[in-house]
Amino acid sequence: MEPRVQARIDLVALQHNLRRARELAAGAKVMAVVKANAYGHGLRGCLPVLSQADALAVATLEEAGKLRGAGFTGRVLLLEGVGSAAELQQAHQWSLDLVVHQPYQLALLEQQRLDFSLWLKVDTGMHRLGFPLEDLPSLTERLLKLPVPAREVLLMSHFCCADQPGDTRTRLQIERFAQLAANWPGACSLANSAGILQWPESHYDWVRAGAMLYGISPVADKTATDLGLQPAMCFQAQVLAVNPVKAGEQVGYGARWQSPRDSRIAIVSAGYGDGYPRHAADGTPVAIDGHRYPLAGRVSMDMLAVDVGLERDIRPGMPVELWGREVAVDTVAGYAGTIGYELVLRLTSRVQVIHEGLENEQLLQHAAT
Ligand SMILES: Cc1ncc(COP(=O)(O)O)c(C=O)c1O
Repeated sequence: MEPRVQARIDLVALQHNLRRARELAAGAKVMAVVKANAYGHGLRGCLPVLSQADALAVATLEEAGKLRGAGFTGRVLLLEGVGSAAELQQAHQWSLDLVVHQPYQLALLEQQRLDFSLWLKVDTGMHRLGFPLEDLPSLTERLLKLPVPAREVLLMSHFCCADQPGDTRTRLQIERFAQLAANWPGACSLANSAGILQWPESHYDWVRAGAMLYGISPVADKTATDLGLQPAMCFQAQVLAVNPVKAGEQVGYGARWQSPRDSRIAIVSAGYGDGYPRHAADGTPVAIDGHRYPLAGRVSMDMLAVDVGLERDIRPGMPVELWGREVAVDTVAGYAGTIGYELVLRLTSRVQVIHEGLENEQLLQHAAT
């Protein structure tokens, strides 16, 4: 039975995007950010490709455990660091790299005799995680006196506005980081996807690529294709029914959409119960057989309606691309008042996720490297 809704993950696209990150940040190591189940793309299924990065990054200890459980033995960075002595021990058992961004995390390291590679996070302007810049000398002193010396101490920070081309706050963050990096004896890391794509001066020794690997645009007003990326996810459903509608007739819950002319409505087998955004506005495009058609009316739990006009042959059973290569996820996000990052993460458990594009043999070869 053909699944009514599926997310097809193109591993070749994933590989292309990883290569693109490497080309753009030539000379830097690439960390693939795989938190939140590889941004909704399925961690295990993406691992044969993403394990080719120089390291992986996760948000939580649980996510790190999944990577180790899947047999990944490479370098893994815990982006939020640990919250307790028990977590510190677990992180050590799993050989994780740790971000340190709070004094209590430093205190935990001082109390335990465990060696780690540490990523000291400073706040250059985002005001989310990170030590104030002026604390750096005293932090360095404490790090040098740890009971068991760190294997490596790297310096990192994170952008708040790198998605906006030419943003003055990003320039300021880059300048602040550059001043610290000039005197830092170890490796440095600043760039996320937007930094990799738009701010070459932020590349340093390690770049941390998330969205761009999945073919999601991290840059305002540019699609992934504009940026030389390939969308890795194709969110696909089917035409369930094709019904005539007369000029002036209304469609769906709340009768939000009114047909401006005699037309046909295709009912598509996906709704907010699958993760399609309920707030998508009329006009949000979907693609059927290489043509784009506009959403007509409110998205239901299991279905949505599109105005397919009278011209083309549209039949039940035809595949519908909700987002992917023909309709960028960022475009749909724009119609739904959100960002592509959120949409790919929101697919529900009834969506079948299929990883494809590389032969088993190629996957095995990649897994081995
Ligand atoms: C510290 C850190 N670095 C890198 C990334 C990757 O960001 P992006 O997905 O925009 O590349 C994230 C994601 O939120 C992050 O929190």
